Amino acid sequence: MTRLVVLTGAGISAESGVPTFRGPDGLWEGHRIEDVATPEAFERDPHTVLRFYDERRRALHGVEPNPAHTALARLERAIGADLLIVTQNVDDLHERAGTRNLVHMHGELRRAQCLSCGARPAWDADLAPRPACPVCGERMLRPDVVWFGEMPYELDRIEQAVVAADVFVSIGTSGAVYPAAGYVALAAAFGARTVELNLESSDALIPFDDARTGPASTLVPAWVDEVMRAGA
Ligand code: APR
Repeated sequence: MTRLVVLTGAGISAESGVPTFRGPDGLWEGHRIEDVATPEAFERDPHTVLRFYDERRRALHGVEPNPAHTALARLERAIGADLLIVTQNVDDLHERAGTRNLVHMHGELRRAQCLSCGARPAWDADLAPRPACPVCGERMLRPDVVWFGEMPYELDRIEQAVVAADVFVSIGTSGAVYPAAGYVALAAAFGARTVELNLESSDALIPFDDARTGPASTLVPAWVDEVMRAGA
């Protein structure tokens, strides 16, 4: 069987109405990263940081998966565990589309993390009012998202899958943030064919074997159809 690793970034959710990070309308345009997405920012001004993520969590109620998310879920139903999706996104659109074999390497908006006991409960309410941790009762919850300077989740599992992959696909990511941006070179070094599906050519570390430009909602379903026709 062909083993596939698909890395997704903010571009796959853009057409669902979730803003990307970089670019003219990007999330970072209106905010300094160091004011909202670092552990130091949270120490300095927890209220502002919690409100920033509360707003983004609430916004998830108004968005739906788009055809790119549903096509990847369809591919998983067809080939099962030979497909691993590694997302940098903190939204839950892959799961809502039906994907199960998924790593949220940068964490999840709909999960909290307790700085007192380490619990990581599913969470859908605002964190700015400093609610109590359901496990230990302390009021020390933060969003379970990975900030700049912190270690992404499940790196060992991701790297094992990337080096074992026959095909590595990057969808809707600018290639600006490591370690995710390094996976294409790792996959290629271990013999994978590399594919990029992105609105525009990204700042990838090495050229992809196959780079297609256009909206994810069109490119991803077309690529999934090709893979399924080829009997991956
Ligand atoms: N279809 C396909 N690609 C798109 C679309 C679309 N409809 N819209 C935008 N894109 C592309 C952009 O061209 C860009 O290359 O998606 C990419 C989004 O890039 P970023 O905004 O940098 O998002 P991402 O790569 O996911 O950022 C990585 O940076 O700040 C952090 O932790 C945050 O996980 C995030 C990480």
